[in-house]
Amino acid sequence: MLSIPLPASPKITLHKTSDGYVIRDNEKNMKMSLSFDDYSKILLDNKKHQLNKIFKAKNSSILDCTGGFARDAAVLASLGNNITLIDRNPLIMSLLVDAREKIKSDDIRYIFSRIKIRFGNCIEFIRNTSKHFDYIYFDFMFNINKSALPSKNEQFLREIVKNDINENIDIIHETIQRVKSKIIIKEHISSNDYDIFDIINTYKGKTVKYHLLEGKSGYRKIYKQ
Ligand SMILES: C[S@@+](CC[C@H](N)C(=O)[O-])C[C@H]1O[C@@H](n2cnc3c(N)ncnc32)[C@H](O)[C@@H]1O
Repeated sequence: MLSIPLPASPKITLHKTSDGYVIRDNEKNMKMSLSFDDYSKILLDNKKHQLNKIFKAKNSSILDCTGGFARDAAVLASLGNNITLIDRNPLIMSLLVDAREKIKSDDIRYIFSRIKIRFGNCIEFIRNTSKHFDYIYFDFMFNINKSALPSKNEQFLREIVKNDINENIDIIHETIQRVKSKIIIKEHISSNDYDIFDIINTYKGKTVKYHLLEGKSGYRKIYKQ
C-alpha cells in the first residue's frame, strides 16, 4: 500500500490500495473512498432534483467549475447534458479518476461518459478555452457550517479544500466579463455572498439556493489580465 502525505493538510493522507484510492484522516481515524455507484438513488430521482428546474434546456453544454465529488455533475449529466468538470485539488482529482474507473453499473458508466474530467483552476480554463458553454456552474465551499450532521464525504471535503471567498468573487467577476453563457452559482440558503452581482433570478430550496446570472462578454470592456 502506497501512502502519500498531503502538504496542505498533513493529517490527511492518500493511500493507493488494491481496491483503489482511499483517503484517511489520521487524527479522527476516519477513511473514505469514492464510489459513483453510490449515486444511483439520487440519479434515479433526477427529475425531482432542483437542478432539473434550473437547467431548463436539455442537451446543454455545462462547465462545472467546482467539480468536487461530482454529485451535481452526475445529476446534470443524467438529465441529458454534457459536462466538462474541473477541480484544482489533486487529492479530489485522484479520487474522481479512480472512482470513474471503478464504476460497476452500466447506467452510471453511461452517465459518466457525458462528463469530461479536467484538473486545474477553473479561471485558467475559462481564460484559455475557445469553446462556448451554455452554462457555467459554480458551487464553492459554503462559508458556514452546512449542517450539524455532515456526511463523511462532506467532512473530508471541508478538511481538504481551502476556501477563500474573495478569490471566489474575483473568479465570478472575471468569468462574467469573459463569457456569454448563463452562469449559475449555488450557495447556502442563509448566506448572501453574491449579492454584489446582477442576479437575474434566485431559485430557493430548503438548504441551498441557486442564482442565475448572465455573462457579459461583448457588452462591456473586456477584463484585462
Ligand atoms: C463544494 S465542492 C463542490 C461539490 C460539487 N458540486 C459536488 O456536487 O460534488 C467545491 C470544489 O471546488 C473546487 N474548487 C474550488 N475553487 C476552485 C477553482 N478556482 N478551480 C477549480 N476547482 C475549484 C474544490 O477543490 C472543491 O472540490
